[in-house]
Amino acid sequence: MKRLTLTRFMIEEQRRSGVLRPELRLLIETVARACKTISHSIGKGALGEVLGSQGTDNVQGEVQKKLDVIANELLLEANEWGGHLAAMASEEMETLHRIPNRYPKGEYLLLFDPIDGSSNIDVGLSVGTIFSVLRAPVSASGREVTEQDFMQPGREQVAAGYAIYGPQTLLVLSLGTGVYEFTLDREVGAWLMTDGPLQIPAGNCEFAINSARHKQWSPAITRYIDERLAGEEGPCGTDYNMRWTASMVADVHRILKRGGIFLYPADHRSPGKARLRLMYEANPMAFLVEQAGGAANDGYGRILDVKPVGLHQRVGVILGDKTEVETVAAYGREMAEPVKA
Ligand code: F6P
Ligand code: MN
Repeated sequence: MKRLTLTRFMIEEQRRSGVLRPELRLLIETVARACKTISHSIGKGALGEVLGSQGTDNVQGEVQKKLDVIANELLLEANEWGGHLAAMASEEMETLHRIPNRYPKGEYLLLFDPIDGSSNIDVGLSVGTIFSVLRAPVSASGREVTEQDFMQPGREQVAAGYAIYGPQTLLVLSLGTGVYEFTLDREVGAWLMTDGPLQIPAGNCEFAINSARHKQWSPAITRYIDERLAGEEGPCGTDYNMRWTASMVADVHRILKRGGIFLYPADHRSPGKARLRLMYEANPMAFLVEQAGGAANDGYGRILDVKPVGLHQRVGVILGDKTEVETVAAYGREMAEPVKA
């Protein structure tokens, strides 16, 4: 079977839409190439001495794994010199990374989580790389890019995607015109299209949540989960299934392919305290999920409408099957505590 390569897919998309710029194509190719190298490193595991901790903490106070640092460096190096970027930001770096003056600058901003789900690395389970692409504001041309230039709501993303390093290495990508999956053909080193446009299958009674965090849940989330746990005898009238891989890339990938809902709600007891990062995790995944016919909500409203205030800001995430996400949102509205004056 003759399959479309990532390169050809983007060239055809460029011809068809007339809006996909060659610089954006170069950017995606560059990220995809870096992901290939990351996949190679991960694949070596203990043999490549890439497992274990780096012995440092990142900006969020989390212990960095060796692979977090390796993948971050690979993405920075690959994207610095092509002339397509104005700046980069990463979950693993405190502030933005400007393109060095010796290289030409482009109009795009690239954000990434180099290794998502990194607690899985040392036990040989699926991890991924998540990325998001914004345009630098026009006002940024001719001056140094600042963090403020990144503070754009997720609906402004021009592309988003992830690589998943699992039984196969996959790249899942949206340029704003649907979601497509490519599989890395290791023998020839090419990304070949294996699925798409993806549409989240409706009606799969499956939820993903870390139930050990139930003390943090709002009454609305508790009600939603309790009703599903009640199964056939409960208000849903059907038994639900639960899955949790502790790797957002893997959980979201399952939902894109098989349906269901993913929840990592904010901590109800202390507003603003949440697990997942808006700019590197929630926004790109929300973009993909909406492009595949699903919905993504932070417990209050659409994730893609959240106006960021900081590069490392965290947010509640409820995404997947549109009907299920809307049910959670409706419970949230119904059960909202009155706002104190
Ligand atoms: O990057 C954060 C992350 O690793 C996600 O990939 C994943 O969904 C989540 O954290 C797992 O959280 P927990 O440790 O609570 O299971
Ligand atoms: Mn992550």
